[in-house]
Amino acid sequence: MLAGGALALGGALAGAGAGAAAAGRGTGESRPQPPGYGVQKVPFHGPHQAGIDTPAQAHAVFLGFDLDGGTDRAALGRMMRLLTDDAARLTGGAPALADTEAELAELPARLTVTFGFGPGFFTAAGLDDRRPASLAPLPVFSIDRLQDHWCGGDLLIQICADDPLTVAHAQRMLVKDARTFARLRWAQRGFRRGRGVQEDGVTQRNLMGQIDGTVNPAPGSDVFAGAVWAEDGPEWLRGGTTMVLRRIRMELETWDAADTRAKEFSIGRTLGTGAPLTGAAETDPPDFAARDAFGLPVISEFAHVRRAHVADPRQQIFRRPFNYDDAPAADGTPDTGLLFASFQRDVAGQFLPIQRALAASDLLNQWTTPIGSAVFAIPPGCAPGGWIGQTLLG
Ligand code: HEM
Repeated sequence: MLAGGALALGGALAGAGAGAAAAGRGTGESRPQPPGYGVQKVPFHGPHQAGIDTPAQAHAVFLGFDLDGGTDRAALGRMMRLLTDDAARLTGGAPALADTEAELAELPARLTVTFGFGPGFFTAAGLDDRRPASLAPLPVFSIDRLQDHWCGGDLLIQICADDPLTVAHAQRMLVKDARTFARLRWAQRGFRRGRGVQEDGVTQRNLMGQIDGTVNPAPGSDVFAGAVWAEDGPEWLRGGTTMVLRRIRMELETWDAADTRAKEFSIGRTLGTGAPLTGAAETDPPDFAARDAFGLPVISEFAHVRRAHVADPRQQIFRRPFNYDDAPAADGTPDTGLLFASFQRDVAGQFLPIQRALAASDLLNQWTTPIGSAVFAIPPGCAPGGWIGQTLLG
């Protein structure tokens, strides 16, 4: 099933000619014509940063940094000019300045680089008065088992592409330039299906086997714009948004022990097609009023989709999650879960009510544990010659 709008690659994606990438640099290698995906580009410049309404790429890394002491407003401006320049070049398929592995930049594979500012960024800049009111660490929920090394961060760099080598190279370039100003606090690698494995736009499965991402505002739609892009609040953030990043461990050992009925009951949707328990197809709207022969709700009061459902489109969140699957423990226990990235105009008005409803009584909580949490303001995009963060720092 196609997630609404996710096929609309056209506007956000400019396929580059294969010529430059295939031309080679005199290495003597015979280079086959690259398949189309490698040379595809997502425009860096525009009113919004890329990597939010961009159809999710196959690979991602989220990098959280702590700013060094003494990194003031002027230094932050220098840092953001430098990082913007790197991002603009690399996403365009060109090497970063002083790129020591320039050839690795030739295949951007829909590379996007998205910057975010954590609460400490505003303090360092002396601009606490411009921090969005709800941009603060989330309250700790009863379900949380947060580990400090997956939490917080003053600066976020989200790097996504359809190729892991491209992501690794962009990460290397950006970390090199960021480290004059900041220290890496955490790096969280995530992935989705490899591009081409399924048709673009199909709602993918997560590592619990569920079809995940069905009910989500469609990029490019009015609902998406109304839910995601900031249109009030601090002037500098207009056209930007906020990101909540939760690292949520999946308790796969006990999930594996549950039967299909219990699994479907906990979500309120079937595993096979992702249809609601009251419907036949993935996109059928759930009927929350439906009752079974015993008069009980078909979709439980405690099912994930009922608890997470929001009727007012402006209160929705946009989910852009990636799976993670790090090395299992020596005894084979998996280290698996979701890098749950959520974009919304306002953390307090949109994300928090949903998270509170889930923390209170979501059946899925038996098998999921939040272990990391971070919140960032995502500045608007910039025009060529401009830089990300200019509306705040410039
Ligand atoms: C729906 C899985 C965490 C918000 C869903 C669906 C699945 C799912 C399978 C149904 C299909 C869909 O519409 O996408 C998970 C898993 C999680 C997780 C495995 C953790 C590992 C969260 C969190 C939030 C959230 C932390 C927000 C705080 C939502 C929303 C929906 C949804 C808003 C759509 C509800 C509707 O039908 O209106 N999730 N989810 N989920 N989830 Fe989650």
